[in-house]
Amino acid sequence: MSNFSVIVLAAGSGTRMKSSSPKVMHKLSGKFLLMWTIDAVVSLNPDNIVVVLNREIKELREYLFKKNIKIIYQKRQLGSAHAVMQSKNFFKNYKGNILILSGDVPLIQTSTLLSLIKNAETTRASVTVLATRVENPFGYGRIIKKNDSILEKIVEENDATSAEKQIKEINSGIYFFDNNLWKILSKIKSNNVKREYYITDAVSVLRENGMNVSFLMLKNSYEVKGINNRTELSQVESILQHKKIKELLNNGVSIIDTSNVYISYDAKIGCDTVIYPGVFIDTCVLIGKNCIVRGATYISNSQIGNSSSILYSYIKDATIGKNVVIGPFSHIRQNTILKENVKIGNFSEIKKSLIAKNSKVSHLSYIGDAKIGKDVNIGAGTITCNYDGKKKHKTLIGAKSFVGSNVNFIAPIKIGQDVLIAAGSTITHNVPSHKIVIARAKQEIKNK
Ligand code: UD1
Ligand code: MG
Repeated sequence: MSNFSVIVLAAGSGTRMKSSSPKVMHKLSGKFLLMWTIDAVVSLNPDNIVVVLNREIKELREYLFKKNIKIIYQKRQLGSAHAVMQSKNFFKNYKGNILILSGDVPLIQTSTLLSLIKNAETTRASVTVLATRVENPFGYGRIIKKNDSILEKIVEENDATSAEKQIKEINSGIYFFDNNLWKILSKIKSNNVKREYYITDAVSVLRENGMNVSFLMLKNSYEVKGINNRTELSQVESILQHKKIKELLNNGVSIIDTSNVYISYDAKIGCDTVIYPGVFIDTCVLIGKNCIVRGATYISNSQIGNSSSILYSYIKDATIGKNVVIGPFSHIRQNTILKENVKIGNFSEIKKSLIAKNSKVSHLSYIGDAKIGKDVNIGAGTITCNYDGKKKHKTLIGAKSFVGSNVNFIAPIKIGQDVLIAAGSTITHNVPSHKIVIARAKQEIKNK
């Protein structure tokens, strides 16, 4: 394959999104819109990848840097050709071809881009436009052909005559140019309704300069669905959800109501796990085999071991072992680790804590900044008082200890192994192993 570089156009103002954030920063299946296109081109391994943005976007900086992607800014939004022009200087000594894509076509597949490149190498045209046929071409640039086969020009919706508007063959916004791109860019004029410099006009300008232009028709038009407004964003979201759910079903995951779950593109779920209606699985989630996830449950950035069961709960940034039972109505967060056979029951919150195997926090408790050994029973209403208003402090509870109901641990505190703490105690001092502690006011019964 000949040498080529990629330019991703993402500096448009995205007016139709009616949003204060840039269009490419809206999320699709948990991933920024722009990343979908970027990930598709990274797999092509081009000489360079340049992204044209209209301003610095700090959430993107590190991601693009790691992938060795160059950011170029287009300060004024004078059109897609003007956006390409901003990278002219970067490519001044570069002799290779240029693949140009819009950052708002997230469904594009690497294999399709490869076909476009291969096609361009065969036809040796100065530009090969990836085109497709859609039932509703509204908003897209139309492919105008001569003698039904030669690409003549691309006409934008706003500039099209009513006859041209009937054409269903549209421009995908993806083009493969040879090095003539840089020569003709400055010849593109802004004599259109929007007064913008359109990259689509490169087709007619190249022709006027005696160069070959070509197009490749893509069968799967869904791949080049552009996102310009929230309706299109939600349509593509549904396409991605549908695709993800199909992948999981094919891998042996049961999803009881496929229209009533949300599952991020990167979720990994083992076979025989059953996902019930109302579940929201956000990014970076790994769920093992034979699990049950039920009720209005939210899971993000967490791992769940095999045969675990989660019911009506909120889980974020947690590592959960096998055979764990969570919920209903539990809140597990911030680097919590639950080992195998742990049980967290209703209205219990576990934050930044490690709970070893077979231990139980069954009802109405708050466990924060704690380390709890194995085979511990935490009674209902137990609170680790971890915050003194300035700092957080740790609670350590040894294996096989039994904590009665309604106990307060005033952290920092250390409880040994096999300790029995009486219900209603407020523990302010460390307790050695194998002891019984009662720390509550003595009941008095007086005559009336
Ligand atoms: C564009 C094409 C249209 C095609 C459609 C496919 C043009 C003129 N038209 O229309 O033929 O059918 O995509 O989805 O290109 N951009 C900049 N700077 C600018 C203007 C735009 O970087 O000053 C970027 C946008 O961020 C976007 C791309 O260029 O990624 C295309 O712009 P957009 O406004 O989305 O054009 P469409 O109307 O979708
Ligand atoms: Mg667009």
